[in-house]
Amino acid sequence: MNDTLTVDVSGLVDVENAQVDRRIFIDEDIYQQELEKIFARCWLFLCHESQIPHPGDFITTYMGEDPVLVVRDRAGKVNAFLNVCRHRGNRLCRADSGNATAFVCAYHGWGYGNDGRLQAVPNLKDAYNNKLDTSGMGLFPVAQLENYKGLYFATFDPDAAPLQEYLGEIAWYLDAFFDRREGGVEVLGGVHRWIVPCNWKFPAENFGGDAYHVGWNHLSALQTGTISASRARQMEGAPLIGQIISTRDGHSMISRGAGDYTEAVIPEVKEYDEQVAAESEQRLGDRWKHTNPVVGTVFPNFSMIRTLAQEFRVWHPRGPQEIQISSYTFVDKDAPQNIKDALRLASIRSFSPAGTFEQDDMDNWQACTETCRGVMSRKLTVNNQMGMGREQFNEDLGAWASDFPISVVSHRNFYRRWAELMS
Ligand code: FES
Ligand code: FE
Repeated sequence: MNDTLTVDVSGLVDVENAQVDRRIFIDEDIYQQELEKIFARCWLFLCHESQIPHPGDFITTYMGEDPVLVVRDRAGKVNAFLNVCRHRGNRLCRADSGNATAFVCAYHGWGYGNDGRLQAVPNLKDAYNNKLDTSGMGLFPVAQLENYKGLYFATFDPDAAPLQEYLGEIAWYLDAFFDRREGGVEVLGGVHRWIVPCNWKFPAENFGGDAYHVGWNHLSALQTGTISASRARQMEGAPLIGQIISTRDGHSMISRGAGDYTEAVIPEVKEYDEQVAAESEQRLGDRWKHTNPVVGTVFPNFSMIRTLAQEFRVWHPRGPQEIQISSYTFVDKDAPQNIKDALRLASIRSFSPAGTFEQDDMDNWQACTETCRGVMSRKLTVNNQMGMGREQFNEDLGAWASDFPISVVSHRNFYRRWAELMS
């Protein structure tokens, strides 16, 4: 892998004082280095298995800026390839998802099977004189592809440690989202995909642990009555409970506290969560009694939420100042239809391009990015000092945990991990 170090990032993340240099949100060279050292090396989320259940089913996504085609071949095996034609590099498949036995390039008509093999080259005989060696011209595969509890991840790094090792302790927290019931989850409908002019790290850190912004940034949305269970209790005078959980690999979650099984806003979903709590407790074990993860980020750019709506999403980088969001609604496969319908509507209303909560977040991530354009503004730092030194490694939780429900221990670990990979 071409892996040329161009920027010395030491000094950009001051771990000791929990400060981050704002150049990392705007600098083009740093961004190019992120693509090489983070997005071409880490395990990146691709899709959920319920999105491609049958032979020929495919979904298109991105790993960093590389377009990727994930497709189940005729024999039922899932593969992931660069979604790039081997002739002149055209983007091969333009659809978000679908079913196909073959993919034909729109430019000159080269055709590939759903196993990635090059099957057809127009004018092979008369124009190429049958001299084109097509044997090594199939679609370019990712280096490794693995499935964890229905979640497909891939990496371009052939030497990357196995997925389970990469996920480490955060794997259990993923179980709490995607494996709390027998049969796991399924994705409902298609994708919400839209562009936001912000750096990819702002939404990644936000979902990873920014409990701080909720009561302020989302105040108007909260005042409409769209409030989570814990927030409702808090407004009735109960103390804010929960912790920020952060693993050594830079993954993190906002968790609620003991016996706090549901964050649902909708009464029937709340009731459903309580009904399935015993099954979840049995599947997830004792830890489930102490902690209930509701929002989180798997480093670098895969996030999920289970409060207000049930979604997972990827923050695809598009240069230092832009992202494309791909967001999907998920539900327990065995949930009754009225719960599925309610959660689908909840996603649209809260966390979608027009969602009440989404709009608040997008506006701030955009402005945090925009101000980095000023030559003086970008010389300032970002402050990650909240709760510093008060996090403790909690053996029961397998992670560092904050001593108060609002803390940015998650941000500190996110940027420590970022600096390690970039060095
Ligand atoms: Fe795909 Fe020419 S670029 S066939
Ligand atoms: Fe938010």
